[in-house]
Parts: sequence; structure tokens; C-alpha cells
Amino acid sequence: MTMHGKGGMTAHDPELNDLVQQARVARERAYAPYSKFKVGAALESSSGEVYTGCNVENASYGATICAERGAVMRAVAEGRKDFRRIVVVTDAEPPAQPCALCLQVLAEFCGADFEIISVNLQGGTEKTSLGALLPRPFNGIP
Ligand code: THU
Repeated sequence: MTMHGKGGMTAHDPELNDLVQQARVARERAYAPYSKFKVGAALESSSGEVYTGCNVENASYGATICAERGAVMRAVAEGRKDFRRIVVVTDAEPPAQPCALCLQVLAEFCGADFEIISVNLQGGTEKTSLGALLPRPFNGIP
């Protein structure tokens, strides 16, 4: 299933609103002195737990960890490997999508139907799926 959609905040979906709020709080904790671009993520497991992440930059730029991957690492460390959706909050218009590196990391655990919900500070929202953004993830050496 592929979902594409644009819209404002989702007053009719309180659980999604809660995820968005948690991602916004995580974004405030981002360590982004080099790019100044803060990202917050909230990853929901299939059993309903939420793991947040923010980008953590480094003076050696390539050592930077994105918000989405930070959230995945936390979840796996807590024993979760099945996920429903992720909310990514940025101050970007249109709302930013996860980078390809993060999509590949998500694809290790999530199928094509995994929901990716990008939200900006104005409440602009775009919903899509892992399968839409990364239709052919690398699946390992044959
Ligand atoms: N960033 C993320 O946190 N997630 C992404 O999917 C793309 C980019 C961060 C990395 C860096 O700290 C800043 O955004 C600018 O690239």
C-alpha cells in the first residue's frame, strides 16, 4: 500500500498528534551546531511503544547521526524490531523526508507498508511509505 497525502494537523488522530508532539520535543534536543538544521523523529513500534531520536552532529561531519537512525538504534537496544510508522519533524517546506541512508536502515526492519509521516513546524504534513521512497532496498549479498 502506498499512501501519498498532504494536509494539515490531524485533529481526528490523537495518537498521531501525540507522535508528532514527541518528535517536536526530540527536535528541540537536536545537536546541530554545524548545519543548524534540527530534526526530530518518533518511531512507533507494532506494540505501541515510542522511541524518539534527534540528529547529533559532529565536528567530523560524516560522523553525524540522523534523527531517524537514532530512534531505530534506541528501539532495537530496547528489544523492539517491529514498527508501524515514524514521524519526522523539521522546519522545512515541504516537510523533509528521511535521507536514503535512514531509509535503508528502516528497511532492515520495516516492510514497504511502513508509514513515513513528515511534518513541519507549521503543521504541514506529508504521508508516504517506505516502499514509495525506497522501492528496492539492498537486501544483502546473494
Ligand atoms: N538529517 C536527519 O537527521 N535526518 C535525515 O533524514 C536527513 C538529515 C540531519 C543530518 C544533519 O545533522 C542535518 O540533518 C543536515 O543534513
